[in-house]
Amino acid sequence: MHEDFKRRVERLTLLVKEDTESNREEILREMSGFAHKHEALRYFITNSIAKTSNRRLISAQSFFLYRNDYLRMRINAWYPDGGRVGYTKERFDSFFSINRCHNHSADLYTVGIFGPGYTTQFKSTSQNLTNCHVGDEISFDRAWNDQLEVGKALFIPKGTVFHTQFCPSRYSISLNLIVDQSADCLQFELEDDRKTVRRVFDFVGLEQLAANPSDA
Ligand SMILES: [Fe+2]
Repeated sequence: MHEDFKRRVERLTLLVKEDTESNREEILREMSGFAHKHEALRYFITNSIAKTSNRRLISAQSFFLYRNDYLRMRINAWYPDGGRVGYTKERFDSFFSINRCHNHSADLYTVGIFGPGYTTQFKSTSQNLTNCHVGDEISFDRAWNDQLEVGKALFIPKGTVFHTQFCPSRYSISLNLIVDQSADCLQFELEDDRKTVRRVFDFVGLEQLAANPSDA
């Protein structure tokens, strides 16, 4: 592993181990630092191109760089809408996680490290989601937009913050730090109306197929 990358990951591990909440600003600063040093990009390129491994590829756009007992780091590629050749829009969106309103079951820090960055619409809810099932509606209190340009680091808390990602204007890459995964925190994907639950996943990403667990 590249020395700078290793040093940064060790520093992040220390901060996460200590207390993610009180160290949040420093974690965001460390994440932002990845954008300007390019060690994450170098690591990604040498490991993905030189040593392709399906085990590290978790979806069409995501690749795990590193994991230990406290954190996981992954890199994501974002394609411009104009790059869609030979795909329907629906297939492209589903394949690259575009235009899908969802939350996460783990705290996530993200930083833009290449390109203009995708845009995101965020929405937060104070609703208790523990007993939320397919077909239920979620009500949101607040909505805001952001764009993940190079060096910009954002914190997306698990559970209550939903987001919809939109294609960047040019090819872009982001780097994620994933911490504090909760076994009791569900992940939801919403319908195109961005309020009705379409799919529910448990914390390891297994889809809950029944609308109500007691129907299973
Ligand atoms: Fe997401």
